[in-house]
Amino acid sequence: MSESLIVKGDSKKELYENLLPQIEALVECEADVIANMANVSACLKDTFNFWWVGFYRVFEDTLILGPFQGPLACTRIRKGKGVCGTAWQEAKTILVPDVDAFPGHIACSSLTKSEIVVPIINKGMVTAVLDIDSEKADNFDETDRIYLEKIASLIA
Ligand code: SME
Repeated sequence: MSESLIVKGDSKKELYENLLPQIEALVECEADVIANMANVSACLKDTFNFWWVGFYRVFEDTLILGPFQGPLACTRIRKGKGVCGTAWQEAKTILVPDVDAFPGHIACSSLTKSEIVVPIINKGMVTAVLDIDSEKADNFDETDRIYLEKIASLIA
């Protein structure tokens, strides 16, 4: 796969449809998880210009910051804490249309208004989460969930 990304589309769905095979090709030829997380963060940031895109990886009872694109972020999140720790604990995607309405939301940036967190599940265990923040309220929907879960399964 070439090392440049060309993503075209008029709708979010088209953009994801276009992006997905390119991510697939990238991940297919690289076994290192950090390298893949780094490139996936870059691809998502480049395509959608999200405020913050990145990964937290599971180490014992804590998530530790992994590759990301965007402003600096908190480095450690305990299981069950914040949106990320909750997505880990429940092993399911969490969409947060309004971060102020999510009890225990961890505000790494005061500009974040909405968020989606997708767990990465390997052999039934959550090994990491993909976290995306937007400075727009209610910026994530079922389309994001469906495609981001596909992307998460490629990383797993
Ligand atoms: N908001 C997240 C913390 C991580 S940052 O958004 C990058 C949470 O509540 O878990």
